[in-house]
Amino acid sequence: MKTKKLEKNKRKVIVLLVLFMLSLILLFSYTEAYSILLKHWYKTASISSTQPTLAVVTSRPQPEVQRCSFKHLSPGNREEGRRLLDSITWPETPPLPKPFSLNVTTDPSRSTFHIENAQGESWRVGDDLTVRIQLKDFYGNPKTSGGDFIIARLHNLQLGAGVVGQVQDHLNGTFTAVFPLLWNGTAHVEVTLVHTSEAITVLKRLTEEQPSRIFFGSDFRSRLVKQMTTCNVCLDPGKVPLCNFTDLNTGEQWFCYKPKTLDCDKRVNHYRKGFSQKISKEEQALFQTGVNLKVPSWPWEMRQLLFIKRRYCESKEARTTPSGYYFNKQWRSLSGPALRQFNNASAMNACLKGKQLHLFGDSTIRQFYLHITESLPNLKRFDKHSSSQSGPFLAKDNTNNITVTYRCHGPPIRFGNVQVTELRYVANELDKVTGGPNTVVVVGVWSHFSTFPIEVYYQRLVTIRKAARRLLDRAPDTKVIIRTANMKQLALYESLTNSDWYSLQRDKVLRAVFKDTGVFLLEAWEMIQAHYLPHSLHPQPEIIKIMIDQVLSYTCPGAGGS
Ligand SMILES: *[C@@H]1O[C@H](CO)[C@@H](O)[C@H](O)[C@H]1NC(C)=O
Ligand SMILES: *[C@@H]1O[C@H](CO)[C@@H](O)[C@H](O)[C@H]1NC(C)=O
Ligand SMILES: *[C@@H]1O[C@H](CO)[C@@H](O)[C@H](O)[C@H]1NC(C)=O
Ligand SMILES: *[C@@H]1O[C@H](CO)[C@@H](O)[C@H](O)[C@H]1NC(C)=O
Ligand SMILES: *[C@@H]1O[C@H](CO)[C@@H](O)[C@H](O)[C@H]1NC(C)=O
Ligand SMILES: *[C@@H]1O[C@H](CO)[C@@H](O)[C@H](O)[C@H]1NC(C)=O
Repeated sequence: MKTKKLEKNKRKVIVLLVLFMLSLILLFSYTEAYSILLKHWYKTASISSTQPTLAVVTSRPQPEVQRCSFKHLSPGNREEGRRLLDSITWPETPPLPKPFSLNVTTDPSRSTFHIENAQGESWRVGDDLTVRIQLKDFYGNPKTSGGDFIIARLHNLQLGAGVVGQVQDHLNGTFTAVFPLLWNGTAHVEVTLVHTSEAITVLKRLTEEQPSRIFFGSDFRSRLVKQMTTCNVCLDPGKVPLCNFTDLNTGEQWFCYKPKTLDCDKRVNHYRKGFSQKISKEEQALFQTGVNLKVPSWPWEMRQLLFIKRRYCESKEARTTPSGYYFNKQWRSLSGPALRQFNNASAMNACLKGKQLHLFGDSTIRQFYLHITESLPNLKRFDKHSSSQSGPFLAKDNTNNITVTYRCHGPPIRFGNVQVTELRYVANELDKVTGGPNTVVVVGVWSHFSTFPIEVYYQRLVTIRKAARRLLDRAPDTKVIIRTANMKQLALYESLTNSDWYSLQRDKVLRAVFKDTGVFLLEAWEMIQAHYLPHSLHPQPEIIKIMIDQVLSYTCPGAGGS
């Protein structure tokens, strides 16, 4: 009896021991993998925190689609989302030539365009002008497929006039651009190849395979213990435990790898950590400034000159595209109310008197804050202790009772160091605005979303639209304005992280999401493209002034200004 019991106990002890050993082994291998991964992040981080790293690989890497913590469309807007995103799909673009040869890709210098019915025709203000474009490769052979990104502009520098053409891709290597003729005088046609269709194949691939190529970090801290991990919209949930920072009010998703020992709620800040992606030498050849990246016009045809005569009875139909044009360096709206000019502080003060202007968004919205506070000497800034990059900013004019605020948008903001206490989603901020006839809200959210799947941006705009609707429901006299994207200067690095092609897709989504919502559109896209100044992520003061004129024109459609 006794020995039997002893035997039983012995066996129990052995089983327990084996179990204990097994769990030790498991634990060890787990922490091992864990620390290797951690080392890996720190390494990438330290390489790319200052300089962007372009990993050059000699052969095309095997497509390695990342496992992703991000859910693409939430059930509530899956149907609208799919319909809307399908409606803006870019045409098929050709696969890269195999073996690779730049010579069979689009060459702007050999491509041509001509104006329809140019001979003997006299153009009249009010006519439409059609330009036919034939793309060719480096051998001079006509291209037979579409998908290239082309923009067109009609302009006259002396008259300070410019208008954007509507470009149509016929998917067979030819395009047409249609311009309305809007001024009495001469005009130049300018056609620019922004990206070849082959380059767009690469841009699409990067988003599919490397949605986390811009990566972010957060510090976690508990007294003396400080740990740092990588954060993103899309992290591999299989690798290491994640901290799920999904916002409960908006549903906006954001993740960090869990720090080694600290809890997720110890996060103190958010910052852009770096950029790393795989792109081959051959693929890089598709992004050469002056060769096939944003090459304006075909040199021998720069002189395409038109003489537009005045039509005696001008037909002035309202049109939706283009939405405006420049004449005498002033923006003239074709689709909305007339743009008024606010050329000095007293005109601006007269409009803003008694008003609260809230600016939310990225650095292109911060420009508005700086422009307004510099233009109005009575506006006193109370933001000396805020980060000059991320704010938040506050300025007040007590005499005229004007308040102006700026706050940056939430993740994936690429700013240097935003404290978690100041990291807010625009939609949540809109929910805190009381609103009313003296409240103006301007939102600008676009540039920091370019490397992610388009659904991330769509989702963000939908949460902002919902909050804007709530605001307009409770205070219908509130003015809510949303700024569209704009084109910028592009080289290789900018193309891969922030290409105008990415911006164009986002611009289309923004227009579709805010259509018929009572939210006003600030037409940055055309204002930059039609202007004589070069494209720039941060438009020059002359253009910012026109944008502020548009904000103030929405704010004060009646008296004040001129
Ligand atoms: C993150 O949290 C949200 C909200 O609780 C949840 O819906 C989502 O499934 C979570 N995601 C992951 C990857 O854990
Ligand atoms: C590409 O075209 C250029 C100029 O026509 C020529 O010099 C070069 O050899 C061609 N390269 C290939 C790989 O065909
Ligand atoms: C390309 O398509 C357009 C529009 O369908 C057509 O007018 C044109 O003739 C076509 N060009 C070629 C070369 O096939
Ligand atoms: C149109 O331009 C012509 C030639 O520059 C000029 O003589 C004429 O006065 C202009 N007409 C108007 C209405 O501006
Ligand atoms: C200042 O303007 C706000 C509206 O923006 C208004 O509610 C408030 O009464 C005004 N204050 C004064 C002193 O006029
Ligand atoms: C400011 O602009 C308005 C409208 O353009 C003009 O009437 C006014 O004279 C200008 N005031 C000053 C001080 O320049």
